[in-house]
Amino acid sequence: MPLTLNSALDDLRPSGIRRFSALAAQTPGCVSLTLGEPGEDTPASVCACVRAGLDAGRTHYPPNNGWPELKEAICARMSSTGLAYAPDEIIVTSGATEALYATLTAMLNPGDEVIVPMPAFLLYESVVRLARATVVPLDTSADGFQIDASDLAAAITERTKAIVLTSPNNPTGVCLTPQSLAAVAELAVRHSFYVICDDVYDQLVYAEGYEGFASLHPELREQTVVVNSFSKPYAMTGWRLGWLAAPAPLVAQIAMVHQYAISSVVSFTQDAAIEALSTDVTPMRESYRVRRDFVLRRLAGMGLSCVRPDGAFYAFPSIRKLGLTSEEFCTRAIQEAGVALVPGSIFGAEGHVRLSYACDSVTLRRGLDRLESFVSGH
Ligand SMILES: Cc1ncc(COP(=O)(O)O)c(C=O)c1O
Repeated sequence: MPLTLNSALDDLRPSGIRRFSALAAQTPGCVSLTLGEPGEDTPASVCACVRAGLDAGRTHYPPNNGWPELKEAICARMSSTGLAYAPDEIIVTSGATEALYATLTAMLNPGDEVIVPMPAFLLYESVVRLARATVVPLDTSADGFQIDASDLAAAITERTKAIVLTSPNNPTGVCLTPQSLAAVAELAVRHSFYVICDDVYDQLVYAEGYEGFASLHPELREQTVVVNSFSKPYAMTGWRLGWLAAPAPLVAQIAMVHQYAISSVVSFTQDAAIEALSTDVTPMRESYRVRRDFVLRRLAGMGLSCVRPDGAFYAFPSIRKLGLTSEEFCTRAIQEAGVALVPGSIFGAEGHVRLSYACDSVTLRRGLDRLESFVSGH
């Protein structure tokens, strides 16, 4: 037998975001606005819980789906945004990454189709491919990154198994409007497919009164999976903690993938996760909003148009007027101006670049000064 590997891997590529952040790191003095990672450290009160957990002997196998106290705290946090879930409808996962992997793996058969509004976070496509299913991209760039009902209807076939919604979005920062969400709900009922809500940025929304898909459309509860994470709102990217919520029968199936992939998340981090959920994220969100406003002013000053981001910590300006591909733009911005961004092509939207303003404001100002000199030189 030849020593071949899973051929589904043939089409997968390493993360383009990492490629550009590595290029920035190798370039002396380069200012990197590439990573979607809060510059702040995890709150001290959260870190203290790990020490206490170790002292209390929380070092044995925990329940596969998470400690009951943590699942209860997650349910309480979800109910504060209008989402009613019971602890047996929750799985604590190794970040949203594993939640998405377990969900898609549990749902997909070879040949199934998953609609992904583009631009999108790259993970979805890779996991769908690993399951030998197909991503059907839904281009939203002509609609201000919103979902147009007739475009969505045209993307649906009898093989459509699911749609993935990311709101606020990575890379655009745009929140889906109630109209976009209603279009999804109506078609998901009519054609019977799952709705996977990647809500990892839902604590970082600047617009008043925002509601996500699951709270606006409880009538689709049986076919909805909500994915969330501790990474972004609590500056806990390295902890690898997230969760998913879904109706109990669906959770039972997803739990099988979770159990055989990782068994459970680390036992002694789970009390810290409870503490994190009680953290007030308002100061962090406010500070991102200030940075967002600053970024939009600076981009406008450079003549780069940008759909206004209402959440997360990304801006996704158009670079069309410069006549460079996004890959050329980002490569040359590193080489010629010492500032690193991520090409839109990596997220499925040529003609744009992603700028992350999750870094501190001094770095951000310096990066934008360099971007301005690069843009004005072209
Ligand atoms: C939209 C989106 N989903 C999921 C993730 C993964 O998050 P986690 O750190 O919880 O695995 C990210 C990380 O950048 C993201 O931007």
